[in-house]
Amino acid sequence: ATTIAVTPERAQPQREAPNTLDQCRRCELWRDATQAVPGVGPQGARIMLVGEQPGDQEDLQGLPFVGPAGAVLDRALAEAGVERDQVYLTNAVKHFKWELRGKRRLHKTPAQREVAACHAWLEEELARVQPEVVVAMGATALKSVLQDGSATMGAMMEAPFQHDGRWVVAVYHPSFVLRARDEESRRQAYDVIVAGLRQALTLGP
Ligand code: URA
Repeated sequence: ATTIAVTPERAQPQREAPNTLDQCRRCELWRDATQAVPGVGPQGARIMLVGEQPGDQEDLQGLPFVGPAGAVLDRALAEAGVERDQVYLTNAVKHFKWELRGKRRLHKTPAQREVAACHAWLEEELARVQPEVVVAMGATALKSVLQDGSATMGAMMEAPFQHDGRWVVAVYHPSFVLRARDEESRRQAYDVIVAGLRQALTLGP
């Protein structure tokens, strides 16, 4: 009879990365979140939109961009002529990071180590969906997409560029539109998002 040698290494349970998003313990954000929020959209979508992290509504519903920022995004998508259900929509960080203010859970910007820890999930989505164009909405998304914690929006927003064999379009985050101090700044930020989405439609391999 053939005996198969079981090496001590193989006999040990492997300490592998968790294979489902909801079990992810790569950082601590899961502790205070209701659930992980995975990306949604068709496999093979040509365009992937990347936001920062789920907000209060997204955390409760388990879906990306269903709260106030999602309403801004929906408007921008419609204006740019992009169908929401034809793009893949996800976030750089999959758990909601928040702090309590009164009775409200207020968004807290994820730390770079949390963005870096969550990057593996974005990689998995990129590998699976294979988009031709990635629209990075805001600095956190851009940092994750470029795997560069020091990336800033400024010059990156001027024109689409190639990274890892695909186009990257950097635009403001929809929440930035909501936070802008006056109507003029809101309009400008919103227009950048719409222009970026229009551009994404025209870019190809
Ligand atoms: N902001 C994001 O970045 N993503 C969401 O899903 C919701 C709000």
